[in-house]
Amino acid sequence: MLKAIKAKELYDKTAKLYNFRYRRTQFEKYKIALHDQLLDGEILDLGSGTGLLSKFLGKRIHQVDVSKGMLLLSRGRRVQADISKLPFRANKFDYVLSFSALMNAENPEAAVKEVKRVLKPGGTFIVTYLKSFDFTEMLKRHFKLIDSRDCGEDVCFILKN
Ligand SMILES: C[S@@+](CC[C@H](N)C(=O)[O-])C[C@H]1O[C@@H](n2cnc3c(N)ncnc32)[C@H](O)[C@@H]1O
Repeated sequence: MLKAIKAKELYDKTAKLYNFRYRRTQFEKYKIALHDQLLDGEILDLGSGTGLLSKFLGKRIHQVDVSKGMLLLSRGRRVQADISKLPFRANKFDYVLSFSALMNAENPEAAVKEVKRVLKPGGTFIVTYLKSFDFTEMLKRHFKLIDSRDCGEDVCFILKN
């Protein structure tokens, strides 16, 4: 849990600066990743931070983050949890979206297995992470790859369950 604890401490400390620093960058990623998605049904934002994605979409979505400091700046349905242990039943979500968070997970494959568990069969997983990481093969072991996109500092994958 060391990496998750470190991420929690880091984001708790810097939460108030996050939107000022990263809003524009994150919104660019959302546009590239989501412009052609229906985004209907139940949506989960994994590593949701300050809730920028919820603001971008203009709708209430489920949000999970390990940092209370970040969650407090968000609104709506928020749960403090680690992305490797999600407090949701199986087959709940139509979409799981995760922007710039997977590389912080202690065990990224355990997190991806949790995504698979909570996503409906045929549901969509959209994930971005820094280009210095490479989870491509691992993601393809668990999901069908539909598309990959360049999201600036991140790579983006559109996957189906
Ligand atoms: C770079 S921020 C991205 C926030 C948000 N997705 C966005 O688009 O602005 C990474 C977020 O992932 C969260 N995070 C890091 N490790 C996590 C973990 N193991 N479980 C849940 N959230 C985590 C951090 O607290 C932080 O809010």
